[in-house]
Amino acid sequence: MKKTLRDVDLNERKVLMRVDFNVPLSRDGDVADDTRIRATLPSIQYAADNGAAVVLMSHLGRPKGKRNRSLSLKVVAYRLAELISNPVKFVDDCVGPEVDEKIRSLAPGEVLLLENVRFYEGETANDPAFAQKLASHGDIYVNDAFGTAHRAHASTAGAPALFDIKVAGFLMEKELRVLGGLLAEVRRPFVAVLGGAKVSSKIGLIKNLLNRVDRIIIGGGMAYTFFKAAGLEIGQSLLDENFLPLCRELLEISSRGKEKQIFLPVDSVVVREVSVSSELKVVSTGDIPEDWIGVDIADKSVDIFRREILRAKTIFWNGPMGVFEIPPFASGTKQIARALVEATEKGATSVVGGGDSVAALNQLHLADKVTHLSTGGGASLELLEGKKLPGVEVLDDVNVSQPVNDKR
Ligand code: 3PG
Repeated sequence: MKKTLRDVDLNERKVLMRVDFNVPLSRDGDVADDTRIRATLPSIQYAADNGAAVVLMSHLGRPKGKRNRSLSLKVVAYRLAELISNPVKFVDDCVGPEVDEKIRSLAPGEVLLLENVRFYEGETANDPAFAQKLASHGDIYVNDAFGTAHRAHASTAGAPALFDIKVAGFLMEKELRVLGGLLAEVRRPFVAVLGGAKVSSKIGLIKNLLNRVDRIIIGGGMAYTFFKAAGLEIGQSLLDENFLPLCRELLEISSRGKEKQIFLPVDSVVVREVSVSSELKVVSTGDIPEDWIGVDIADKSVDIFRREILRAKTIFWNGPMGVFEIPPFASGTKQIARALVEATEKGATSVVGGGDSVAALNQLHLADKVTHLSTGGGASLELLEGKKLPGVEVLDDVNVSQPVNDKR
């Protein structure tokens, strides 16, 4: 069990808090879904109310170590200020003299958001010098970024290791408690529904997942690498060639047992270009014309996926079934969301993780109709796989021989 914000004296301390403000953005650059921001409010508010000067750091997107104005956290600072009804300061860097000065002058109760930590290569590389600079921003470290806890980056692993006091925020605490509890007593059949475009992050963990869940339903951008591995034509659809051998192996494992374990779409919605006005058509898997791109699952796939979801007692969903942020390609994702809610109403336990799947449920006003809405996509998947999360491991353990200072 990890120490939390409740276990430390925050008065007049500088708290460096890692949050996950990697939120979906609309095409005009606004925050499209603020679930992850809202989810951290209890920790931010608690730290500020208890006399801490709060320095927030996060990533947004994958800018690969370069400044990218479209991935600036400034829009998030505005939204956060609206949500806490208090000013939120923003500095357009995360290290350097200007940042140091802003932090020096930050008063107890004030909140400052730093610019995207992934504008520096040192973040994802967990570079010790970069971690040291981040660590100099506070005297207590708090990790409330459950969604990024599976990354061993400078802000989640390197920097906290340099603190004497490093604790979990309330969101982190809640996610670990709820997900840990669910996974300890899984009711079967247990079905995982995976989608989204983060092919490289997710395909790698399917093999482990096959040992934990009964069936895996795969939609979204990831499915096309599997089709290619099966020798099918995928046109210009998303492909990660590095994963072709692994996909072949997974398909082989799936067909080995008495019952098929991996379910892929049998049809797709395809377009010539990914835009709201493009002509679309439905084709069977394997019939995607050369210049066309798969952007959603179509009706026959929805029927099969729905049937499997309704047979399940536990369902874990991560990742949309298509390019759901473009309305004409959102139908598959929405129908899967509805199937999940239907299964939950029939008594199944449902967990939805990841920014896009959560955003889909929010759009349909169904967020309160599933058992647990997690702010972690990849992080909850890795927990499900049975892995330890580096962002959690580095935090201080509760010393069981000493009672926890429970200030609730
Ligand atoms: C997420 O959205 O899953 C987290 O914010 C982590 O983002 P990443 O996959 O780009 O590391």
